[in-house]
Amino acid sequence: MGAAVVVVGSVNTDVVAELDRFPRPGETLRAVAVRRNLGGKGANQAVAARRVHDDVAFIGRVGDGAQGDGVREELAGHGVDVDHTRTVPDAATGTAFIQVAAGENTIVLDAGANDAWDRLDDAERRDVADAAVVVCQMEIPSAVNRAVAQACRGRLVVNAAPAREVTDLLSSCDPLVVNEHELAVLTGVDVDGPTQARSAARSVLDRGARSVVVTLGAAGAVWVTTEGGGVVTPPDVEVVDSTGAGDAFVGVLAARLAVGGELGDAIRWAVAAGSLAVQTSGTHASYPDADGIVAMLDSIVSKS
Ligand code: RIB
Repeated sequence: MGAAVVVVGSVNTDVVAELDRFPRPGETLRAVAVRRNLGGKGANQAVAARRVHDDVAFIGRVGDGAQGDGVREELAGHGVDVDHTRTVPDAATGTAFIQVAAGENTIVLDAGANDAWDRLDDAERRDVADAAVVVCQMEIPSAVNRAVAQACRGRLVVNAAPAREVTDLLSSCDPLVVNEHELAVLTGVDVDGPTQARSAARSVLDRGARSVVVTLGAAGAVWVTTEGGGVVTPPDVEVVDSTGAGDAFVGVLAARLAVGGELGDAIRWAVAAGSLAVQTSGTHASYPDADGIVAMLDSIVSKS
């Protein structure tokens, strides 16, 4: 029997440089601090889900050697089932080079083993089929995500990050989760703020998605379904590091859906998780547990 929440996706080593400001082209800057830690949108989402749900598995690919063993062990150390996180011979584990300054970040990816598969094996397909909620994102090949959509019998959360066309997944996702930039890429419409986001998200419903959630950074999130939707707004918080906050949102959303939460309720939890995550440096190091989220829910405002 597989896990209740299965995340299929990327896993990286993040090499993070904290800076006073971003360098200009051609400029050399000293970092304020440098660290290496587990990353990858998929792995981050699995850890965020595991903070609030006991039964989470991650399906992905690492390279052979110490780096691959290390990220798998770190993920397992967070309580995530990594039985189907396979090693690709002669491949390097994915690496992300991240700069963080004034709460913002830039990320450059070396995908490595994340790009070295194009299908699910039988055991992985069974895990996906048995899950209540399955999550995928765009740091792995499109063919794998299509195989996930075909195998999924529960609820599929598709996070179109980094931005990529997802036409072949639209009829399967419930919800599609995007930020404003990713929504603009999908719709060809500039999106700035909740009103434009809602209207652009409705156009994605017209293309087949059952529900669409748009994350708006400090402004929270908007969501639409064929029956309605809403706006969920967090309180003002100090943003220390936004890296991986979107992954915290997606992971917690999936975990709440897996316990039978309504989409609007799951989004409140996810907005609280994202809002807590940006207040501390790092990705999973900043992810809250259920108690932390529940303590914040009273300050989250939901409107239809
Ligand atoms: O969303 C943040 C993540 O994107 C980082 O952990 C990095 O690995 C990239 O995948």
